[in-house]
Amino acid sequence: MTDMSDFHQMKALLDWQIELGATDAISDTPVNRYALEAKPPKLETKAATPAPVVPMAEVDPVAVARKAAEAAGDLEGLRAAMAAFEQCELKKGARNLVFSDGVPGARVMVIGEAPGRDEDQQGKPFVGRAGQLLDKMFDAIGMGRAAETPIYITNILPWRPPQNRDPKPDEIAMMMPFVEKHVALAAPELIVVMGNIACQGVLGRKGITKLRGNWGEALGKPVLPMFHPAYLLRNPAAKREAWADLLSLQARLKG
Ligand code: URA
Repeated sequence: MTDMSDFHQMKALLDWQIELGATDAISDTPVNRYALEAKPPKLETKAATPAPVVPMAEVDPVAVARKAAEAAGDLEGLRAAMAAFEQCELKKGARNLVFSDGVPGARVMVIGEAPGRDEDQQGKPFVGRAGQLLDKMFDAIGMGRAAETPIYITNILPWRPPQNRDPKPDEIAMMMPFVEKHVALAAPELIVVMGNIACQGVLGRKGITKLRGNWGEALGKPVLPMFHPAYLLRNPAAKREAWADLLSLQARLKG
């Protein structure tokens, strides 16, 4: 007889039987199913007394985020407040909180959409292929995250959405108080929003093809919408417009 306590041995035996074509589990002693009652006996049940409905306290994730963001006194405090924020489901699936890169206090703050796989792994924004293009773009106008004329980079969402899906409107809305506080603490002169999601969050508008290159105003700063570098990788012809926008940014900084 096989030792029943040996799980692995039993599993191997079962696998072997399945391989031989066994499809049903049978017991050692035969069961006369005709002699069994057709239906299990009905249990007498008392009418259940409905449990009193206790209204769940409605949590407004935007209000929770606003309170947490307002309490942050510096960028480290803001990072900690975001790390402690439990209302966004994306946090559960992410490896890292992606907060920022570059130089806080830089004249230009770049706001992207959300981390991708590489950013999630490294905990830094724009480090994948799109990020490499972003670096080249700013390098072309003498700027960069570690350059003499630095930039500061963050995203609307600090956690990677599963399968890089688009962030949902409620996810954007609940993270915006943190973005607003991030801008206030980093205190850039100008903001560049990369792509539709960042435009939607910061400017409240979508339609990057029309918006790009047109300076707007939000969070008390001039805002320049630009094509997202990931879009430029898929549509290299649009790099011409991106170059025009970079020159517009450069001119604004000089002017
Ligand atoms: N795309 C973004 O918008 N942000 C990143 O950090 C990476 C890719």
